Amino acid sequence: YKRITTKSLIEMKANGEKISMLTAYDYTMAKIVDSSGVDVILVGDSASNVMAGHETTLPITLDQMIYHASSVVRAIERSLVVVDLPFGSYQSDPKEALRSAIRIMKESGGHAVKLEGGKEIKDSIKKILNAGIPVMGHLGLTPQSIYKFGTYTVRAKEEQEADKLIEDALLLEKLGCFAIVVEKIPAHLAEKVAQSISIPVIGIGAGGKVDGQVLVIHDMLGMNNEFSPRFLRRYMNLYDDMTAAIGQYVDDIKSMDFPNEKEQY
Ligand code: KIV
Ligand code: NA
Repeated sequence: YKRITTKSLIEMKANGEKISMLTAYDYTMAKIVDSSGVDVILVGDSASNVMAGHETTLPITLDQMIYHASSVVRAIERSLVVVDLPFGSYQSDPKEALRSAIRIMKESGGHAVKLEGGKEIKDSIKKILNAGIPVMGHLGLTPQSIYKFGTYTVRAKEEQEADKLIEDALLLEKLGCFAIVVEKIPAHLAEKVAQSISIPVIGIGAGGKVDGQVLVIHDMLGMNNEFSPRFLRRYMNLYDDMTAAIGQYVDDIKSMDFPNEKEQY
């Protein structure tokens, strides 16, 4: 694919090709992610944690999401850019949800939006889709509801919640969503969801029997040492590499090694 569209992702699922997705929140990182061949870039509201240092995703605003998303969009050539609708920008009523989605599309140039939830936000999803804006769903552990859940532990282990999740997935497909993220649910449940619908199911902490995987880029690059859930595979230990490099810089300044003769005018 020269350029990934929502249609390409549905084709990939039909052909059994797994979808790769990663977050990015700024121009420089997005350029690296796009050139590395990642299919979908998510401008996640995890920016609230990773970029701004908040404990939850709740404080990030629509304006801040638009700032991150527009920075990402300027960098990309191939990836599909999906932007999270932040907490408070879509829950109160469908009209507000549509207004927020329109602002993201117009002001950032992103290609699609993502909303957390199923049946509860059905009318908002419909309204956004009716305006021609592609919607990605998000079920399972939905961090914007963390104060309702109380913890970040695995969701839908009990039958009742698992049944609701499957119903929600079927509903999201029927409404016309182009894909669904499932976060931190049992692998066998995620597999069942992926088999039950024809739109791609992209997992995070949901096992390998789904149609694609997503991680937060700072986590997979090992930039934060504190966050180590079982589902996270670290591909680098950038925290250690960066502190070593920056420590060396400090030492070189103190010892007057930097700058040297060749590094000045
Ligand atoms: O905000 C985010 O990074 C996400 C992913 C974890 C799916 O929603
Ligand atoms: Na998110």
